[in-house]
Amino acid sequence: MEITHPSIDTYLERLHPSEDPILAEMEEEGNRRNFPIIGRVVGRLLFQLVRLSNARRILDMGSGFGYSAYWMALALDADAEITLTDFVDENLKQAQEYFRRGSIRCTPHFYAGDCLALLDQLEGEFDFVFNDVEKELYPEVLEKIPQRLRSGGVLVTDNVLWHGKVTEPDPDEATLGVLRYTAGVFEHPNLFSTVIPVRDGVSISLRR
Ligand SMILES: C[S@@+](CC[C@H](N)C(=O)[O-])C[C@H]1O[C@@H](n2cnc3c(N)ncnc32)[C@H](O)[C@@H]1O
Repeated sequence: MEITHPSIDTYLERLHPSEDPILAEMEEEGNRRNFPIIGRVVGRLLFQLVRLSNARRILDMGSGFGYSAYWMALALDADAEITLTDFVDENLKQAQEYFRRGSIRCTPHFYAGDCLALLDQLEGEFDFVFNDVEKELYPEVLEKIPQRLRSGGVLVTDNVLWHGKVTEPDPDEATLGVLRYTAGVFEHPNLFSTVIPVRDGVSISLRR
């Protein structure tokens, strides 16, 4: 199920220019590999949220070849940092190359492996976390991330409407992961959450 009508999606895509040549290249790469990137509508939303929250330390969970992270990095100043994570080393090498060629001022870090395991190795709080990992792992993200966010920090999660499967009977494991996560961010005592039905659904949770 498409969340928004395809003609609305096309209209929105056209309204949201991709102003950066590296992002345009990455969008082409996403199409070529049929790789699920967030696209420019959600990319621009991330850029705005990073700026609005004055984020300086970001964790990108499930970076692929770096498209979502690149949008957030564009919004960061030189004294800021972003950590990209992915199971697949090749994806991160590709991301590293895009970051090297792009107009990024902040410091990127690249970590190959399970980002939930990485959390135990990283110290301190984050200002901003973007979650796009395997959907079965979403409940674990909810268990681990809120206490790692500073007060006033932001947790953004992609695919919370999961192609409409969240409204269907007999959910599979991935859908159950999304359902549990989404119910959880609304029930969480330290989060204030909303769901925006753009693309595949994006949740935005503010750490109280
Ligand atoms: C939907 S793609 C990410 C796309 C990226 N966020 C973007 O929009 O440009 C999901 C990626 O997350 C990675 N991934 C899934 N679960 C992960 C985990 N627990 N730790 C690290 N990477 C993970 C997968 O290898 C895949 O490349």
